[in-house]
Amino acid sequence: MPQVLDTLDLAFEVNGDAVSVKVPPGATLLDALRDALELTGTKLGCGEGECGACSVLLDGRVVNSCLVLAAECAGAKIVTIEGLAANGKLHAIQQAFVDQGAIQCGFCTPGMIMATHALLADNPTPSEADAKRALEGNLCRCTGYRKILDAVLSLANGGVAHD
Ligand code: FES
Ligand code: FES
Repeated sequence: MPQVLDTLDLAFEVNGDAVSVKVPPGATLLDALRDALELTGTKLGCGEGECGACSVLLDGRVVNSCLVLAAECAGAKIVTIEGLAANGKLHAIQQAFVDQGAIQCGFCTPGMIMATHALLADNPTPSEADAKRALEGNLCRCTGYRKILDAVLSLANGGVAHD
């Protein structure tokens, strides 16, 4: 009779560090990040792919980590909001959100910033329509989106370096 695993041992890279985690077979990437690695910057909103609060970069692509099985990420490179600031300095995208007043309660902010990161990596000078399209999967209950779009467009128009 096949053995049923109650724990998976997985190895991947998170924010540039090689990590290994033990998770239940059905654990999502979000579970692995928040529960196993205590990277709680990535938020659990809806848990079903609707709000974008859980957005992270998986091999450079923005994904809803609540919809990705941790087991699918073995060997992958993951970047979370905790991976953006460096040497005590906010990433340019984080700073733009602060400068433009694009953060109220902050719950959506990590996901918004990761989605913006993916957008700017693909298209360093997005139009407002491009920005709206890129962020359409990320919901914000506070800001009305205007200041978030201003933050994204300030990076595009100002040509601020981002990595
Ligand atoms: S928590 Fe993943 S999309 Fe809402
Ligand atoms: S700042 Fe509160 S949900 Fe966006």
